[in-house]
Amino acid sequence: MWPITMAASSPLLLLRSFTPTKPFSKTILSLRKPLKFYSNSIRMEISEIEAEKKKIFVSGATGKTGKRIVEQLLAKGFAVKAGVRDAEKAKSMFPNPNEDLQIIKSDVTEGSEKLANAIGDDSDAVICATGFQYSWDLLAPWKVDYYGTVNLVDACRKVGVKRFILVSSILVNGAAMGQLLNPAYVFLNAFGLVLVAKLQAEQYIRKSGINYTIIRPGGLKNDPPSGNIVMEPEDTLSEGSISRDQVAEVAVESLLHPQASFKVVEIVARTEAPSKSFVELFGSIKERSRLTHVLNSLKLIALVLVFSIALMALQQLKILKVLIGMTRRLNEDVGL
Ligand SMILES: NC(=O)c1ccc[n+]([C@@H]2O[C@H](COP(=O)([O-])OP(=O)(O)OC[C@H]3O[C@@H](n4cnc5c(N)ncnc54)[C@H](OP(=O)(O)O)[C@@H]3O)[C@@H](O)[C@H]2O)c1
Repeated sequence: MWPITMAASSPLLLLRSFTPTKPFSKTILSLRKPLKFYSNSIRMEISEIEAEKKKIFVSGATGKTGKRIVEQLLAKGFAVKAGVRDAEKAKSMFPNPNEDLQIIKSDVTEGSEKLANAIGDDSDAVICATGFQYSWDLLAPWKVDYYGTVNLVDACRKVGVKRFILVSSILVNGAAMGQLLNPAYVFLNAFGLVLVAKLQAEQYIRKSGINYTIIRPGGLKNDPPSGNIVMEPEDTLSEGSISRDQVAEVAVESLLHPQASFKVVEIVARTEAPSKSFVELFGSIKERSRLTHVLNSLKLIALVLVFSIALMALQQLKILKVLIGMTRRLNEDVGL
C-alpha cells in the first residue's frame, strides 16, 4: 500500500513524498498525474492519483539474457515492455499472464521512428540486450549491434527517455588493449567484426548525452551463478565468464543505483572473489576522462597503421621475392 494518509497536513508534503527525487531511486512508483485537491476540505480524489510502476523497455526480451532481465525486473516490481521480433515466441516464453508485462513487436533495424512508437512516452528506461543472430549476412552485427543500438538511442531521444543500459561485451576495445591476437577477439570479430560494431555503438551512446550504463560481460553461461561478481573498469578484463542470471542482475541493479550512471563496467564471476554489494561494485568504478578516450582512439589508430604498414611490407617482400625469382630464371635462360 502507498503511504497515503488523508490527514496529511500539506498537499505539497504529499507531492514531495510521492515524486521520486531522481529518475531512478529505489522508489519504483512514480506519479504521472497531478494530485487533485478540493478547496477547504483537503479532500483528495484517490481515483485521480495514478501511481505507476517504473516501466522499462527491454529490447531483445526473447534472448537468453533478455528473458532473464524481464523476469528479474518483474520480480523487483518494475513494469516491463518487452520489445520482441516474434510475439508468438515471446508469449510462449512468458506464458503466465502478468498485467505488468506488455509484449511489443519491434525490430531494432527498422529505424528510430518505429522504435520510438514501441518505447512510447510511458517508458522510463531502455535496456538493450539484443545481439545479432549468426547467419551468412556478414553485415548482421553492424545492422543489429551497431545501427540497432544507435536506433534505440535515437528513439529514446525522440520520446524523452533519459536512461539507457546496454549489454555489450568484454574485449570490444581489444585492439587498444593490446589484445589484437587474443583468440576470443580474433574469433568473435571473424563474424562481421561484431566487437568493433559494439564498440562503435558504445561510443555513440557515450556521445549522445543519455545517462548510460554499459555492461561488458565475459563469456555468457546459462548455468546459475557459480561465483561472485567481479566488476572492473573498461578495457581491463580479457577473459572470464559469467552466468546470464548475474548479467541480468547487474542490468536491473544499474537502474537502482545512481553510482552506475555514466559508467562502463566489465563483469565476470569468480569463485574466489569476495561477495560485494552493488553499491560497492558500482562505486568502485571511476568514470573515465575524455582524455583517456582520445588516447585510446589514438592507440587504436596507431595499431591499425602499424598493422597496415606491416601488411604492405609483407606484400613488398613478396613482390621482391617474385622479382628475384624472375631475374634468376631469366639469368638461367640466357645462360649467365
Ligand atoms: N554469448 C556470449 O558469450 C556473449 C558474451 C559477451 C556479450 N554477449 C552479448 O550479450 C548480449 C546478449 O547475449 P545473449 O546470448 O543472451 O543473446 P541472444 O540469446 O542471442 O539474444 C539476442 C536477442 O536479440 C534479438 N534480436 C536479434 N536481432 C534483432 C533485431 N533486428 N531486432 C530486435 N531484436 C533482435 C533476438 O531476437 P529473437 O529472439 O527474435 O532471435 C534475441 O532476443 C548480446 O549483445 C551478445 O552479443 C554475448
